[in-house]
Amino acid sequence: MDGGVPPFPVEERSLRVTESAAVGRRYHRLLLDAPDLSARARPGQFFHLLCRDGAGNGPYLRRPMSIWRCGPGQPLGFLLHVKGRGTTALAALRAGDALSVVGPLGHGFTLHPDWRRVLVVARGVGLATLAPLATAAAAQGIAMEAVLSARDPADLMAAEFGGGSGAAILPVFDSDGTSEVQRVELLLRARFAEARPDAVFTCGSNRLFLLLQRLAAEHGIPGQVALEQQMGCGLGMCFCCVRQVRDATGEVANLRVCAEGPVFDLQAALAW
Ligand SMILES: Cc1cc2nc3c(=O)[nH]c(=O)nc-3n(C[C@H](O)[C@H](O)[C@H](O)COP(=O)(O)OP(=O)(O)OC[C@H]3O[C@@H](n4cnc5c(N)ncnc54)[C@H](O)[C@@H]3O)c2cc1C
Ligand code: FES
Repeated sequence: MDGGVPPFPVEERSLRVTESAAVGRRYHRLLLDAPDLSARARPGQFFHLLCRDGAGNGPYLRRPMSIWRCGPGQPLGFLLHVKGRGTTALAALRAGDALSVVGPLGHGFTLHPDWRRVLVVARGVGLATLAPLATAAAAQGIAMEAVLSARDPADLMAAEFGGGSGAAILPVFDSDGTSEVQRVELLLRARFAEARPDAVFTCGSNRLFLLLQRLAAEHGIPGQVALEQQMGCGLGMCFCCVRQVRDATGEVANLRVCAEGPVFDLQAALAW
């Protein structure tokens, strides 16, 4: 984080959809042709998408979406949980349609070159935000374990997370009770004891964030969390996306998720 100035250059672009497909019961993937933006985008950053279907219908405000796939020679990818007007319009796009995007925006995750092993905890579509970190970690020779929490095996999206990165997936489910906080705590304590990670990362669940924050503090492990908040401008101007985060002096400050975030220090972020 560097004082909250969005990392420019940021531009609005009209991109061509190359793939649009349902994933499981509630999710949808969109791939866009944007080699330069894809090469420039960093794990944890996001784009602000104008959600209009092929007929031009959709809400006025853009919707923030994490970068799910990016990198040199890769399409720019998003993984959507389809739940309201915006994401429904995005899921109605077809290959060949145009999509207006602004980005890449915000500050992403940091991977320290000395780290040898990291652990992530993701819930639901929070895995979309953490997925490019798996690819980046693999490229830097950093081993990753990923606790993925989902309603049931059909909702897991392990392939959408791993993407050939080699991350070791540790699935937990609501359907069999393994996603209960007490059971995830036992799992994390066992992993910390057997293969202590150099850093931990999380996105997608308040209760798992609080658990990881507590355990990481107890074990002296640094961490990062990607926060979500409804957004207006996405550019740091309207202040509608503020969340409470402790600053370097320990004071609670209202920081903009779009500008100072969306990735914050795990111990600095406050529960929502
Ligand atoms: C930085 C960032 C990255 C994100 N990345 C992803 C992603 O990779 N995939 C994905 O599916 N979603 C992501 N989201 C959430 C996504 O922006 C919202 O789900 C989306 O805006 C909902 O739009 P809608 O019009 O479909 O639903 P709406 O009708 O606007 O909302 C449907 C429901 O979702 C809630 N909601 C709306 N926006 C948010 C939000 N930002 N956070 C939490 N709840 C919200 C509403 O309160 C409502 O209950 C991200 C949000 C942020 C801030
Ligand atoms: S959405 Fe406007 S300042 Fe963050």
